[in-house]
Amino acid sequence: MKHFLDIHRTDPADLRAMIDHARAMKAARNGAPKGAPDDEQPLAGRMVALIFEKPSTRTRVSFDVGVRQMGGQTMVLSGADMQLGHGETIADTARVMSRYVDLIMIRTFEEAVLHEMAEHATVPVINGLTNRTHPCQIMADVMTYEEHRGPIRGRKVVWSGDGNNVFHSWAHAAGQFGFDITFTGPEPLDPDPEALDFARRKGSRVEILRDPFAAVAGADLVVTDTWVSMHDPQSARERRHNQLRPYQVNERLMAAAKPDALFMHCLPAHREDEVTSAVMDGPQSVIWDEAENRLHAQKAVMRWCLGV
Ligand code: CP
Ligand code: NVA
Repeated sequence: MKHFLDIHRTDPADLRAMIDHARAMKAARNGAPKGAPDDEQPLAGRMVALIFEKPSTRTRVSFDVGVRQMGGQTMVLSGADMQLGHGETIADTARVMSRYVDLIMIRTFEEAVLHEMAEHATVPVINGLTNRTHPCQIMADVMTYEEHRGPIRGRKVVWSGDGNNVFHSWAHAAGQFGFDITFTGPEPLDPDPEALDFARRKGSRVEILRDPFAAVAGADLVVTDTWVSMHDPQSARERRHNQLRPYQVNERLMAAAKPDALFMHCLPAHREDEVTSAVMDGPQSVIWDEAENRLHAQKAVMRWCLGV
C-alpha cells in the first residue's frame, strides 16, 4: 500500500519521480481548458474521497479538478457531516470508506488521525494537511522552484515566521531533496526539532537564526506563511502578531536575499501581516504558479499511490 503521509516517510527517488512526472503532465496539457480531460485517463473508473475537517480552497479544488482531468470521480466530504464527527472511530471509518472508494485524501487536526486512517484503510491515504505537516504543498513548492530556477539541490531556503506545519514539510524536503534550510522566527514559535533533525541527519545545513536579515543573506528562496494557523487558538492571535511582526517578508527583507531570490507562500495570505503586497505582487513572487502546481503535483502523487 503506497500512502502519501509525509515527505520524510517517502523514498527520495519516488519524490523526485513524482516532481518530474508532475512537470511532464503539466507540459502535456499545454494550455488546454481546465476542464478538458488529459490524453491519458489513468483514474478512469476510480472514485476518490476528499475529507475535510478544516476549511480549504486550494487543496479542495486542485484535488477535485486533478481527479477529473485524469478521468476519475470525487466526493468531497466534510468531517463534521460524517459519523467521524459524531463518535465513529477513525479505524472503523477507514475500513468502511475503503469498501467504497479507491483513494482517500484527508485534511485533519492531529496527525494521529491521519496515521490511524492509513493503518486501517485498505486503499491509499494522502495527507491533505495536519497540524504537523503539509506534504502536498511542499511537493508543489519544490516543483515551482525548479520550474523557475532549475535543481533545488544545494540551494538555500529561508523560512521567516511561525515554525508551523508547512515549515516542517519544508524541513523534511530539505533532507530528501538535498538543500539547506534556515528558520528565522521568535524562539517560542520554533519548529519541532524532529523536522530539523531529519534534515540535518540527511546532510542538509540547518540553521535557526533570530535576526531575519542575517538569515536571508544568500537565500535562493524566501518563504513565509500565516501567523495564526487553523489549529491555533484565536486567543493567541495578538501575542503571535506581536512576536512575529519583525519577521514580516517585505521589500527590505527581500533586498537582503540574493538578487534573484524567489518568494513563496502556500496561501491563504494575510496581506501586510506576514507579507506585504509589494512582495506578493512583486517580480520575485511565484505564488500563483505555486498555487497552480498543487494541481499538477497532486496528480503525480495520486498516480504514484495508485500505481497508474
Ligand atoms: N495552501 C493550502 O493548502 O490552501 P487551502 O487551505 O486553501 O487548501
Ligand atoms: N499553516 C496554515 C496552512 C494553511 C494552508 C494552517 O495550517 O492553517
